[in-house]
Amino acid sequence: MNQDLDYRPALGKKQDYGIGIIGAGGIVNAAHLPAYRKAGFNVIGLTDQDGEKAAQTARDFEVSRVYPSVEALLDDPAVEIVDIAVPPWNQKELVRQATAAGKQLLCQKPLSNVYAEAVEIVEMAEAAGVKLAVNQQMRWDQAVRSSRTLLNRGLLGDPAAAVIDVSIHTEWRAWPWALTVEGLDLMFHSIHYFDSMRSLFGQPDRVWSSGASYPGHVAVGETRTITVFEYSDTFQALVSVNHNNWTEECFATLRIDGTEGYAAGTFGLLYDYPHGRPDTLSYSSRMIDPNETIHHRFEERWIPDSFIGPMGELMAAIEEDRLPETNGRDNLKTLQLVNAGYRSIAEKRAVAPGEIG
Ligand SMILES: NC(=O)c1ccc[n+]([C@@H]2O[C@H](COP(=O)([O-])OP(=O)(O)OC[C@H]3O[C@@H](n4cnc5c(N)ncnc54)[C@H](O)[C@@H]3O)[C@@H](O)[C@H]2O)c1
Repeated sequence: MNQDLDYRPALGKKQDYGIGIIGAGGIVNAAHLPAYRKAGFNVIGLTDQDGEKAAQTARDFEVSRVYPSVEALLDDPAVEIVDIAVPPWNQKELVRQATAAGKQLLCQKPLSNVYAEAVEIVEMAEAAGVKLAVNQQMRWDQAVRSSRTLLNRGLLGDPAAAVIDVSIHTEWRAWPWALTVEGLDLMFHSIHYFDSMRSLFGQPDRVWSSGASYPGHVAVGETRTITVFEYSDTFQALVSVNHNNWTEECFATLRIDGTEGYAAGTFGLLYDYPHGRPDTLSYSSRMIDPNETIHHRFEERWIPDSFIGPMGELMAAIEEDRLPETNGRDNLKTLQLVNAGYRSIAEKRAVAPGEIG
Protein backbone atom coordinates (compact mmCIF):
# COMPACT_ATOMS: atom_id res chain seq x y z
CA MET A 1 0.00 0.00 0.00
CA ASN A 2 1.51 3.31 -1.08
CA GLN A 3 2.07 5.72 1.82
CA ASP A 4 1.71 9.50 1.74
CA LEU A 5 5.38 10.21 2.42
CA ASP A 6 4.68 13.76 3.65
CA TYR A 7 8.05 15.05 2.42
CA ARG A 8 7.17 18.53 1.17
CA PRO A 9 8.13 21.59 3.27
CA ALA A 10 5.38 22.67 5.67
CA LEU A 11 4.90 26.37 4.95
CA GLY A 12 3.30 28.94 7.24
CA LYS A 13 0.35 31.16 6.33
CA LYS A 14 2.48 34.25 5.76
CA GLN A 15 4.88 33.69 2.89
CA ASP A 16 5.45 37.22 1.62
CA TYR A 17 8.25 38.35 3.93
CA GLY A 18 10.60 40.60 1.94
CA ILE A 19 13.86 38.79 1.07
CA GLY A 20 17.16 40.53 0.30
CA ILE A 21 19.96 38.32 -1.03
CA ILE A 22 23.68 38.95 -0.47
CA GLY A 23 25.78 37.08 -3.06
CA ALA A 24 24.79 36.37 -6.65
CA GLY A 25 27.04 33.39 -7.29
CA GLY A 26 26.56 29.82 -8.41
CA ILE A 27 24.20 28.58 -5.73
CA VAL A 28 21.90 31.62 -5.77
CA ASN A 29 21.45 31.26 -9.53
CA ALA A 30 21.12 27.47 -9.53
CA ALA A 31 19.02 27.04 -6.41
CA HIS A 32 17.91 29.96 -4.21
CA LEU A 33 16.21 32.04 -6.89
CA PRO A 34 14.67 29.15 -8.89
CA ALA A 35 13.27 27.73 -5.64
CA TYR A 36 11.88 31.05 -4.43
CA ARG A 37 10.30 31.71 -7.83
CA LYS A 38 8.64 28.30 -7.70
CA ALA A 39 7.37 28.91 -4.18
CA GLY A 40 6.22 32.46 -4.99
CA PHE A 41 8.42 34.01 -2.27
CA ASN A 42 8.89 37.78 -2.30
CA VAL A 43 12.47 38.61 -3.36
CA ILE A 44 12.87 42.36 -2.96
CA GLY A 45 16.43 42.75 -4.21
CA LEU A 46 20.01 41.55 -4.16
CA THR A 47 23.60 42.69 -4.00
CA ASP A 48 27.05 41.26 -4.73
CA GLN A 49 30.51 42.73 -4.41
CA ASP A 50 30.72 41.98 -8.12
CA GLY A 51 28.13 44.47 -9.43
CA GLU A 52 28.01 42.88 -12.88
CA LYS A 53 27.06 39.50 -11.42
CA ALA A 54 24.36 41.12 -9.32
CA ALA A 55 22.93 42.96 -12.34
CA GLN A 56 22.97 39.82 -14.53
CA THR A 57 21.30 37.68 -11.85
CA ALA A 58 18.64 40.34 -11.31
CA ARG A 59 17.93 40.40 -15.05
CA ASP A 60 17.76 36.61 -15.27
CA PHE A 61 15.25 36.32 -12.41
CA GLU A 62 13.42 39.65 -12.83
CA VAL A 63 14.49 40.93 -9.42
CA SER A 64 13.64 44.61 -9.39
CA ARG A 65 16.24 46.08 -7.01
CA VAL A 66 20.03 45.74 -7.32
CA TYR A 67 21.68 47.41 -4.32
CA PRO A 68 25.10 49.02 -4.78
CA SER A 69 26.23 47.76 -1.38
CA VAL A 70 25.34 45.54 1.57
CA GLU A 71 24.60 48.72 3.56
CA ALA A 72 22.04 49.83 0.95
CA LEU A 73 20.31 46.45 1.12
CA LEU A 74 20.18 46.58 4.92
CA ASP A 75 18.83 50.15 4.81
CA ASP A 76 15.80 49.02 2.84
CA PRO A 77 12.89 48.54 5.27
CA ALA A 78 11.18 46.26 2.74
CA VAL A 79 13.94 43.68 3.35
CA GLU A 80 12.85 41.63 6.37
CA ILE A 81 14.93 38.49 5.79
CA VAL A 82 18.55 38.64 4.67
CA ASP A 83 19.60 35.57 2.72
CA ILE A 84 23.41 35.30 2.81
CA ALA A 85 25.10 33.16 0.13
CA VAL A 86 28.82 33.95 0.19
CA PRO A 87 31.84 31.83 1.14
CA PRO A 88 31.86 31.15 4.91
CA TRP A 89 34.87 33.32 5.77
CA ASN A 90 32.82 36.38 4.70
CA GLN A 91 29.65 35.37 6.52
CA LYS A 92 30.42 36.55 10.07
CA GLU A 93 30.93 40.20 9.10
CA LEU A 94 27.68 40.18 7.12
CA VAL A 95 25.83 38.65 10.07
CA ARG A 96 27.27 41.38 12.30
CA GLN A 97 25.89 44.07 9.98
CA ALA A 98 22.54 42.37 9.41
CA THR A 99 21.88 41.71 13.10
CA ALA A 100 22.75 45.35 13.88
CA ALA A 101 20.06 46.27 11.34
CA GLY A 102 17.59 43.91 13.09
CA LYS A 103 17.05 41.64 10.07
CA GLN A 104 16.04 37.96 10.23
CA LEU A 105 18.69 35.67 8.74
CA LEU A 106 19.11 32.69 6.49
CA CYS A 107 22.84 31.83 6.40
CA GLN A 108 24.59 29.49 4.01
CA LYS A 109 26.30 26.32 5.13
CA PRO A 110 28.87 25.97 6.50
CA LEU A 111 27.87 28.64 9.02
CA SER A 112 31.62 29.09 9.43
CA ASN A 113 34.65 26.95 8.66
CA VAL A 114 35.98 27.96 12.11
CA TYR A 115 33.85 26.50 14.91
CA ALA A 116 34.46 29.35 17.38
CA GLU A 117 33.28 31.85 14.75
CA ALA A 118 30.10 29.85 14.16
CA VAL A 119 29.42 30.14 17.90
CA GLU A 120 29.97 33.91 17.66
CA ILE A 121 27.51 34.12 14.77
CA VAL A 122 24.85 32.25 16.74
CA GLU A 123 25.43 34.46 19.77
CA MET A 124 25.18 37.66 17.68
CA ALA A 125 21.75 36.61 16.42
CA GLU A 126 20.59 35.64 19.91
CA ALA A 127 21.81 38.95 21.39
CA ALA A 128 20.00 40.88 18.65
CA GLY A 129 16.79 38.85 19.17
CA VAL A 130 16.55 37.85 15.51
CA LYS A 131 15.92 34.40 14.06
CA LEU A 132 18.80 32.67 12.33
CA ALA A 133 18.35 29.57 10.18
CA VAL A 134 21.05 27.73 8.24
CA ASN A 135 20.54 26.57 4.67
CA GLN A 136 21.06 22.84 5.43
CA GLN A 137 18.44 22.04 2.87
CA MET A 138 19.36 18.40 2.29
CA ARG A 139 17.06 17.64 5.23
CA TRP A 140 14.29 18.56 2.80
CA ASP A 141 15.71 16.39 0.04
CA GLN A 142 12.86 14.14 -1.02
CA ALA A 143 14.51 10.79 -0.17
CA VAL A 144 15.78 12.06 3.19
CA ARG A 145 12.49 13.63 4.26
CA SER A 146 10.47 10.59 3.17
CA SER A 147 12.78 8.28 5.10
CA ARG A 148 12.21 10.44 8.13
CA THR A 149 8.45 10.01 7.70
CA LEU A 150 8.85 6.21 7.53
CA LEU A 151 11.05 6.23 10.65
CA ASN A 152 8.68 8.53 12.57
CA ARG A 153 5.74 6.27 11.75
CA GLY A 154 7.68 3.30 13.09
CA LEU A 155 7.43 1.51 9.74
CA LEU A 156 11.14 0.66 9.72
CA GLY A 157 11.19 -0.37 13.40
CA ASP A 158 14.37 0.38 15.33
CA PRO A 159 17.16 1.55 13.01
CA ALA A 160 20.12 -0.85 12.94
CA ALA A 161 22.22 0.40 10.01
CA ALA A 162 22.24 3.51 7.84
CA VAL A 163 24.56 4.14 4.90
CA ILE A 164 25.04 7.12 2.60
CA ASP A 165 27.36 6.00 -0.18
CA VAL A 166 28.37 8.55 -2.81
CA SER A 167 30.85 8.01 -5.65
CA ILE A 168 30.83 10.86 -8.15
CA HIS A 169 33.08 13.15 -10.15
CA THR A 170 33.14 16.66 -8.66
CA GLU A 171 34.63 19.43 -10.78
CA TRP A 172 36.10 21.52 -7.95
CA ARG A 173 37.44 24.09 -10.44
CA ALA A 174 33.88 25.48 -10.60
CA TRP A 175 34.62 26.99 -7.15
CA PRO A 176 38.14 28.47 -7.30
CA TRP A 177 38.08 29.12 -3.53
CA ALA A 178 37.29 25.44 -2.90
CA LEU A 179 40.64 24.43 -4.42
CA THR A 180 42.55 26.24 -1.70
CA VAL A 181 40.74 25.21 1.52
CA GLU A 182 42.39 22.65 3.79
CA GLY A 183 39.14 21.01 4.86
CA LEU A 184 37.12 20.28 1.72
CA ASP A 185 34.77 17.29 1.61
CA LEU A 186 33.63 17.14 5.23
CA MET A 187 33.27 20.93 5.57
CA PHE A 188 31.61 21.73 2.26
CA HIS A 189 29.98 18.53 0.98
CA SER A 190 29.60 15.74 3.54
CA ILE A 191 28.24 18.35 5.95
CA HIS A 192 24.94 17.76 4.08
CA TYR A 193 25.03 14.03 4.83
CA PHE A 194 26.04 14.63 8.44
CA ASP A 195 23.14 17.06 8.91
CA SER A 196 20.76 14.64 7.18
CA MET A 197 21.86 11.77 9.43
CA ARG A 198 21.26 14.06 12.43
CA SER A 199 17.80 14.93 11.13
CA LEU A 200 17.01 11.20 10.88
CA PHE A 201 18.73 9.74 13.93
CA GLY A 202 19.95 12.57 16.19
CA GLN A 203 23.47 13.20 17.43
CA PRO A 204 25.83 10.19 17.52
CA ASP A 205 28.02 9.40 20.54
CA ARG A 206 31.28 9.18 18.56
CA VAL A 207 32.68 10.01 15.11
CA TRP A 208 35.37 7.98 13.28
CA SER A 209 36.66 9.54 10.04
CA SER A 210 39.36 8.81 7.53
CA GLY A 211 40.24 11.23 4.71
CA ALA A 212 42.39 11.03 1.60
CA SER A 213 43.17 12.96 -1.55
CA TYR A 214 43.79 11.73 -5.09
CA PRO A 215 46.96 11.30 -7.13
CA GLY A 216 47.76 14.60 -8.85
CA HIS A 217 44.64 16.23 -7.45
CA VAL A 218 43.95 19.95 -7.99
CA ALA A 219 42.37 20.63 -4.60
CA VAL A 220 44.38 21.06 -1.41
CA GLY A 221 41.74 19.45 0.81
CA GLU A 222 40.47 15.88 1.11
CA THR A 223 38.28 14.51 -1.70
CA ARG A 224 37.67 11.01 -0.29
CA THR A 225 36.23 10.42 3.16
CA ILE A 226 34.75 7.58 5.16
CA THR A 227 32.96 8.37 8.42
CA VAL A 228 31.30 6.08 10.93
CA PHE A 229 28.83 7.48 13.44
CA GLU A 230 28.49 5.30 16.53
CA TYR A 231 25.08 5.71 18.14
CA SER A 232 24.70 2.68 20.38
CA ASP A 233 25.59 -1.00 20.54
CA THR A 234 22.76 -1.72 18.13
CA PHE A 235 22.98 1.12 15.62
CA GLN A 236 25.78 2.67 13.57
CA ALA A 237 25.78 4.82 10.43
CA LEU A 238 28.31 5.16 7.61
CA VAL A 239 28.95 8.07 5.24
CA SER A 240 31.30 7.21 2.39
CA VAL A 241 32.15 9.81 -0.25
CA ASN A 242 34.45 9.64 -3.28
CA HIS A 243 34.67 12.74 -5.50
CA ASN A 244 37.15 11.16 -7.94
CA ASN A 245 35.00 8.68 -9.82
CA TRP A 246 35.71 9.59 -13.46
CA THR A 247 33.79 6.60 -14.87
CA GLU A 248 30.21 6.71 -16.07
CA GLU A 249 29.14 4.47 -13.19
CA CYS A 250 28.57 7.12 -10.57
CA PHE A 251 26.14 6.59 -7.70
CA ALA A 252 24.71 8.40 -4.70
CA THR A 253 22.61 6.22 -2.44
CA LEU A 254 20.93 6.07 0.95
CA ARG A 255 19.99 2.85 2.73
CA ILE A 256 18.38 2.41 6.12
CA ASP A 257 17.84 -1.04 7.61
CA GLY A 258 15.58 -1.39 10.63
CA THR A 259 14.06 -4.21 12.65
CA GLU A 260 10.75 -3.93 10.74
CA GLY A 261 11.70 -2.64 7.32
CA TYR A 262 14.17 -0.91 5.06
CA ALA A 263 14.36 2.14 2.81
CA ALA A 264 16.75 2.49 -0.14
CA GLY A 265 17.02 5.68 -2.17
CA THR A 266 19.09 7.60 -4.70
CA PHE A 267 20.08 11.28 -4.62
CA GLY A 268 19.27 12.21 -8.20
CA LEU A 269 21.04 15.58 -8.10
CA LEU A 270 24.45 13.94 -7.90
CA TYR A 271 23.99 11.94 -11.08
CA ASP A 272 24.20 15.17 -13.11
CA TYR A 273 25.03 18.15 -10.83
CA PRO A 274 23.53 20.77 -10.62
CA HIS A 275 20.62 19.78 -12.90
CA GLY A 276 20.21 16.23 -11.69
CA ARG A 277 17.16 14.04 -11.81
CA PRO A 278 14.48 13.25 -9.25
CA ASP A 279 15.36 11.10 -6.25
CA THR A 280 13.98 7.60 -5.93
CA LEU A 281 12.97 5.71 -2.80
CA SER A 282 12.06 2.06 -2.42
CA TYR A 283 10.90 0.69 0.88
CA SER A 284 9.34 -2.31 2.49
CA SER A 285 7.86 -2.80 5.93
CA ARG A 286 6.64 -5.90 7.71
CA MET A 287 4.00 -3.63 9.23
CA ILE A 288 2.55 -2.92 5.78
CA ASP A 289 3.27 -6.10 3.81
CA PRO A 290 6.54 -8.04 4.15
CA ASN A 291 6.25 -9.30 0.58
CA GLU A 292 5.78 -5.93 -1.05
CA THR A 293 8.46 -3.41 -2.01
CA ILE A 294 7.06 0.01 -2.79
CA HIS A 295 8.93 2.10 -5.37
CA HIS A 296 8.50 5.85 -5.22
CA ARG A 297 9.75 8.33 -7.81
CA PHE A 298 9.47 12.01 -6.94
CA GLU A 299 8.58 14.94 -9.19
CA GLU A 300 10.78 17.39 -7.27
CA ARG A 301 14.55 17.59 -7.10
CA TRP A 302 17.08 18.38 -4.38
CA ILE A 303 18.00 21.50 -6.44
CA PRO A 304 16.00 23.67 -6.53
CA ASP A 305 12.99 22.29 -4.63
CA SER A 306 14.65 21.50 -1.30
CA PHE A 307 15.74 25.14 -1.02
CA ILE A 308 12.11 26.03 -0.32
CA GLY A 309 12.53 24.11 2.97
CA PRO A 310 14.89 26.26 5.07
CA MET A 311 13.46 29.60 3.84
CA GLY A 312 9.85 28.42 4.25
CA GLU A 313 10.65 27.05 7.70
CA LEU A 314 12.33 30.34 8.70
CA MET A 315 9.22 32.26 7.62
CA ALA A 316 6.97 29.91 9.60
CA ALA A 317 9.25 30.32 12.64
CA ILE A 318 9.04 34.12 12.40
CA GLU A 319 5.26 33.97 12.09
CA GLU A 320 4.89 31.56 15.01
CA ASP A 321 7.72 33.12 17.04
CA ARG A 322 9.63 29.87 17.54
CA LEU A 323 13.01 28.49 16.53
CA PRO A 324 13.37 27.29 12.94
CA GLU A 325 14.35 23.64 12.50
CA THR A 326 17.87 24.46 11.27
CA ASN A 327 18.44 27.18 13.86
CA GLY A 328 21.95 28.26 14.83
CA ARG A 329 22.21 26.11 17.99
CA ASP A 330 21.07 23.07 16.05
CA ASN A 331 23.60 23.81 13.35
CA LEU A 332 26.44 23.96 15.86
CA LYS A 333 25.77 20.25 16.49
CA THR A 334 26.25 19.53 12.78
CA LEU A 335 29.47 21.56 12.83
CA GLN A 336 30.58 19.59 15.89
CA LEU A 337 30.30 16.41 13.79
CA VAL A 338 32.29 17.96 10.93
CA ASN A 339 35.02 19.15 13.27
CA ALA A 340 35.00 15.87 15.18
CA GLY A 341 35.58 14.21 11.80
CA TYR A 342 38.66 16.37 11.14
CA ARG A 343 39.98 15.73 14.64
CA SER A 344 39.43 12.00 14.13
CA ILE A 345 41.41 12.12 10.86
CA ALA A 346 44.26 14.03 12.53
CA GLU A 347 44.42 11.99 15.73
CA LYS A 348 43.34 8.62 14.30
CA ARG A 349 40.76 7.93 17.00
CA ALA A 350 37.03 8.15 17.69
CA VAL A 351 35.98 11.65 18.76
CA ALA A 352 32.90 12.56 20.81
CA PRO A 353 31.08 15.61 19.36
CA GLY A 354 31.17 17.23 22.82
CA GLU A 355 34.97 17.49 22.55
CA ILE A 356 34.46 20.26 19.98
CA GLY A 357 33.99 23.69 21.50
N1 LIG B 1 23.39 24.72 0.54
C1 LIG B 1 23.99 24.19 -0.52
O1 LIG B 1 23.61 23.14 -0.98
C2 LIG B 1 25.15 24.89 -1.16
C3 LIG B 1 25.56 24.55 -2.45
C4 LIG B 1 26.63 25.25 -3.01
C5 LIG B 1 27.25 26.25 -2.28
N2 LIG B 1 26.82 26.51 -1.01
C6 LIG B 1 27.47 27.55 -0.18
O2 LIG B 1 27.07 28.82 -0.66
C7 LIG B 1 28.15 29.73 -0.55
C8 LIG B 1 28.38 30.38 -1.90
O3 LIG B 1 28.65 29.37 -2.85
P1 LIG B 1 28.61 29.67 -4.42
O4 LIG B 1 28.78 28.36 -5.08
O5 LIG B 1 27.43 30.48 -4.78
O6 LIG B 1 29.96 30.54 -4.55
P2 LIG B 1 30.31 31.59 -5.70
O7 LIG B 1 31.77 31.84 -5.52
O8 LIG B 1 29.79 31.15 -7.00
O9 LIG B 1 29.47 32.90 -5.29
C9 LIG B 1 29.71 33.66 -4.14
C10 LIG B 1 29.32 35.11 -4.44
O10 LIG B 1 29.41 35.86 -3.23
C11 LIG B 1 29.94 37.14 -3.56
N3 LIG B 1 30.48 37.69 -2.31
C12 LIG B 1 31.46 37.18 -1.55
N4 LIG B 1 31.64 37.94 -0.45
C13 LIG B 1 30.74 38.95 -0.53
C14 LIG B 1 30.45 40.06 0.31
N5 LIG B 1 31.11 40.28 1.46
N6 LIG B 1 29.47 40.91 -0.06
C15 LIG B 1 28.79 40.72 -1.22
N7 LIG B 1 29.05 39.69 -2.07
C16 LIG B 1 30.00 38.81 -1.71
C17 LIG B 1 30.97 36.86 -4.63
O11 LIG B 1 31.27 38.01 -5.41
C18 LIG B 1 30.28 35.77 -5.44
O12 LIG B 1 29.51 36.29 -6.52
C19 LIG B 1 29.34 28.90 -0.02
O13 LIG B 1 29.42 29.07 1.38
C20 LIG B 1 28.97 27.49 -0.28
O14 LIG B 1 29.46 26.58 0.71
C21 LIG B 1 25.79 25.87 -0.46
